[in-house]
Amino acid sequence: MEFEEIARLVRSRRTHKAFGRDPVPRETLDELLELARWAPNHHVTEPWRFRVLGPAALARLQAAGGRNEAAKLERAPTLVVVSCVLSGDAVQDEEDLHATAAAVYVVLLAAHARGLAGYWRTPGLLRRPEGRAAVGLRAEERVVALIHLGPATGPRPAPVRRPPTDFVEYLD
Ligand SMILES: Cc1cc2nc3c(=O)[nH]c(=O)nc-3n(C[C@H](O)[C@H](O)[C@H](O)COP(=O)(O)O)c2cc1C
Repeated sequence: MEFEEIARLVRSRRTHKAFGRDPVPRETLDELLELARWAPNHHVTEPWRFRVLGPAALARLQAAGGRNEAAKLERAPTLVVVSCVLSGDAVQDEEDLHATAAAVYVVLLAAHARGLAGYWRTPGLLRRPEGRAAVGLRAEERVVALIHLGPATGPRPAPVRRPPTDFVEYLD
């Protein structure tokens, strides 16, 4: 039963770009972000950082982004900046970035299981100094996602995936 349930969740999670207006309740966010720390993580460095944007932080980010970006930042009622703290060691940083990406996926999948819509976005604004400053990113942090969360407004079509035979090899 567990396999069928996780397979159903993995297959049915979609990237949503339209959301209802109600913010995700704090208790639900706490639940999702607690789960995130169970992502696989070599040496258990716990490199991820999550910043849930409040109204003032959102306003700062919008001011840093200009009109076009500001409108995009209003699509979802709840936004979470996810970053990875880099150590400067190339191998560890690569692995920590992978671990943080896995943590983002945990949040998206768990949100989907809670009936929420999600979107993993990587806006250019968060790579620029003004956007980074607006949400208090430190120099050693690399942005991995701006997770959008909120109520779903309807189903989304699934982009076609290639069959596994295109990308799986069993070596001798
Ligand atoms: C690292 C990463 C960054 C992404 N950044 C963006 C983005 O900036 N804009 C966007 O439209 N989608 C972004 N996506 C979402 C993908 O476009 C989406 O997952 C893909 O189209 C497959 O759709 P699905 O999630 O519904 O299966 C990102 C996904 C990942 C993993």
